[in-house]
Amino acid sequence: MTTTPTPTPTPPEETTVTDEHGPLTGPLHDGRYAVTAIAPFGVAIQAPEPGAHVRDLAIDPLRALVREHGVLLLRGFDTFGTPEKLSAYCERWGEPSVWPFGTVLELVEKERPEDHIFDSSYMPMHWDGMYREQIPEFQIFQCVHAPGAGNGGETTFSDTAAVLRNTDPAIVEQWSRVTGTYQRKMEFYDSVTVSPLVTTHPHSGTPVIRYNEPTATDDAGFVNHPDLRFTGLPEEDIAEAHRTLRAALYDPAHLYAHSWHTGDLVVTDNYSLLHGRNAFTSGAPRHLRRVQVLGTPALDNPGLVR
Ligand SMILES: [Fe+2]
Repeated sequence: MTTTPTPTPTPPEETTVTDEHGPLTGPLHDGRYAVTAIAPFGVAIQAPEPGAHVRDLAIDPLRALVREHGVLLLRGFDTFGTPEKLSAYCERWGEPSVWPFGTVLELVEKERPEDHIFDSSYMPMHWDGMYREQIPEFQIFQCVHAPGAGNGGETTFSDTAAVLRNTDPAIVEQWSRVTGTYQRKMEFYDSVTVSPLVTTHPHSGTPVIRYNEPTATDDAGFVNHPDLRFTGLPEEDIAEAHRTLRAALYDPAHLYAHSWHTGDLVVTDNYSLLHGRNAFTSGAPRHLRRVQVLGTPALDNPGLVR
């Protein structure tokens, strides 16, 4: 009879990488996973070998990476074949937001969409949960099928804490006077939310921006415009605040546009970032699944009026 020798356990390693801003925290206690920087913010982990599965990665260090860097991309891993399996995985991150459709939103273009979310149009910057009882801390996206090269459809993320750090304080002071009143009716809610443009991260207290970017009212191709009103400054100063804010949010120093590969799993910090979508070629096979995960404790929406 032969026996297999017991392998000697290898001690856990700390993975640390450095970018131009200094060392990145990579608290993954397994040297197989290298954490690399994404420009201008975020981190990525590539599958170390074919067949590696995202559920092999411990959640706590991944959660710490999202909180520190805003965006975490897991690329090349095996993911989930069904929405139910994705949802079960997301429960390891925290309590998922429950919608009338369940926990998994199927983001696929509809033939005759009643709302821009299911169109191929661009999606203005916003934060998730702004019209709901609770604001999720994390968004977890799985790319079931990429739209294909040259078809657009990138999900756009703006690092609002960086925007506030890097903008002239006099301009931030103007933004800080503005309050947005947002009203939106769609299939899943009919709500009013009031929020100052500049507020603070519910855990860290870091200044962040909460803003739903207006679309041009004459954009006839945009399905189901929300009703947005901004107060706190004279009208011409409000217009200037929109202009400077939009320029800062979309400044390449603050904007990451994620170009989807089939199989990508992306986790983002909804408390700090705003997000939107670049338009894509109508009919392109773009299919994302999205789950929202509540914070611990869950954050009641401070701006919801009804
Ligand atoms: Fe969203």
